[in-house]
Amino acid sequence: MTPPSPSVGFRFAGTGSSLPPGVLTNDDLAVGMDTTDSWIRERTGIGARHIGSSTSELSTEAGRQAMQRAGLGPADIQQVILATTSPDYICPGTAPAVAHALGLDCGAFDVQAACSGWVYGLVVANGLMLQGMDNILVIGAESLDRITDYTARDTGILFGNGAGAAIVQQDPTGAGRILGWDLGANGDYVHILYAEHGNVLQMDGKEVFRQAVVAIQRTTAASLEMAGLTVADIDLVIPHQANVRIVEAAWKRLGFDMDKTAMILEKTGNTSAATIPIALADSLYRGRISQGDKVMFIGFGAGMTWASVIVEWNGDLTGTEAW
Ligand code: UT7
Repeated sequence: MTPPSPSVGFRFAGTGSSLPPGVLTNDDLAVGMDTTDSWIRERTGIGARHIGSSTSELSTEAGRQAMQRAGLGPADIQQVILATTSPDYICPGTAPAVAHALGLDCGAFDVQAACSGWVYGLVVANGLMLQGMDNILVIGAESLDRITDYTARDTGILFGNGAGAAIVQQDPTGAGRILGWDLGANGDYVHILYAEHGNVLQMDGKEVFRQAVVAIQRTTAASLEMAGLTVADIDLVIPHQANVRIVEAAWKRLGFDMDKTAMILEKTGNTSAATIPIALADSLYRGRISQGDKVMFIGFGAGMTWASVIVEWNGDLTGTEAW
C-alpha cells in the first residue's frame, strides 16, 4: 500500500520534447510484413512512429528546451533523472552523458520502469525536493527502434522513438503540489513483455492489453483516493499510450472522458517512458492546461509497472508541439 506523502510546493518551470526526423508510416511497415494501414489504425490508433537518433541525443534536445523555457542555466539544475528502457549502453546509465551534453555537473541517474518510468521519476523528484533540492530535470526518452523488429506484426506496429522533459522547481508559495500518487509493480508478469540482452522486444499482446486495463484502473483509484478527488475533478488526463483501445477500455470502466485526455499516439506510436512528457509539452502548446488545473499522469508498462500522479498545475504554460 502506498503511504500518504507530504509534497513540497512546486512548479513545472519548463518543458520540452523531441522526435527524430525519420518517420515509419504504416504503409512503410506493410512492405516488410503482412499488414495494412487500415488494420493498424483500427486496432491501435497508430498512423506512424519516429525512428533514428539515440536516447541521449533526444534527451539532450528535450532537456535543452525545458531549461530554456525555465530560464535556468547549467548551475541551477541539481539533479537529472532520466526514465528510459532503451539506454545508449547497458552500462553506464544514459543520464550522465545527457547531463554532460547540457553542461551540468550535478547528479544524474536512469530510472528503468519501462513505460511508467517518467511518472516514477516525478515522484522521486518530489522526494529529492523534500530533501532540499530546488530544480530537477526529469526526462523520459527512448530509442526503441534499437530493440524493435519492424517485421514483427505485434511489436513492430507499436514502438517508436522520442523524448520529453520537464523541470520541476520548488515553489515556496506552496502552490502546485502533488495531490496524490501511486507506484506499483508485479514481477510475475515479466514474461509478457521483455527484451533479453542483445535481442528485440517479445510480447504477449493480448495479456499486456488485459493487464494494462487492470493496472490503469487500480493506480487511478489509488491516486484519486489519496488526493480525495473523483474522476470528475480531473481537468486533463495524460495517460501512457500503447494502443488507443487500452485507454478507451479503461476509460469506459473509470468514467474518464476522451475529450479531457491528451492523445498523441497517432503520430508517435508507443514511445514508452517518453510518451507522457511529450504529451504534456504538446498539451501546453495547445493551451489545454491552465494554472490551478488538476492534471493526472497515468503510466503502465513492462515489469509490469504502473504509476500515477495528480498535480495541481503551477508553472510555465508554453510547450512544444509533438510533431
Ligand atoms: O506499453 C505496453 C506495450 N504493449 C501493448 O500495449 C500491447 C497491447 N496489445 C495490443 O496492442 C494488441 O494485442 C496488438 C495490437 C499487438 C494485436 O491486436 P489484437 O487485436 O490483439 O490482434 P490479435 O493478435 O488477436 O489478432 C487478430 C487478427 C488475427 O487474424 P485472424 O486469426 O483473426 O484471421 C491476426 O492474424 O489480426 C491479425 N493480425 C494482424 N493483421 C494485420 C495480427 N497482427 C496483425 C497486423 N496486421 N499487424
